[in-house]
Amino acid sequence: MSVKISVTINGKKYTSQVEPRQLLVYYLREALSLTGAHVGCDTSSCGACTVLIDGNAVKSCTTLAVQVDGTHVTTVEGLAKNGTLHPIQEGFRQEHGLQCGFCTPGMIMSAADLLQNNPNPSETEIRHALEGNFCRCTGYHNIVRSIQWAAKKLQETNAAVL
Ligand code: FES
Ligand code: FES
Repeated sequence: MSVKISVTINGKKYTSQVEPRQLLVYYLREALSLTGAHVGCDTSSCGACTVLIDGNAVKSCTTLAVQVDGTHVTTVEGLAKNGTLHPIQEGFRQEHGLQCGFCTPGMIMSAADLLQNNPNPSETEIRHALEGNFCRCTGYHNIVRSIQWAAKKLQETNAAVL
């Protein structure tokens, strides 16, 4: 049995037949070839699979594809515009917020959720917002600096996060 869903992903509308047990991260990666959301743990622990559903950060490894029917999903692929990195992506580049990069898409999407709700977060607030995202490489300091860089840039340019 399959179920028809319609979902807008990164501004583009998709209509698909999915199995009720299909997880969102595998729908994105395997059906749509949107491989920015990574699978690290498959158990809602690491945050590598984080995407935005209607603007809210959600772990797509424990979300069913049928649950996003009628919603707007944003993945890391949807952030850059016309070949220009999003300020959060640019922040990670400028502040060396990644090493292997496996956690980075999830970190960036969690940061996008944070900065939408809190444009000028303190270091403590940034660290709190990243509690569901694990990084095995960086020690987190440069990730925090990357998000601070992005917050400053967004404020300077008076730009919306999404
Ligand atoms: S793969 Fe989803 S939280 Fe780790
Ligand atoms: S940069 Fe390697 S896990 Fe974060």
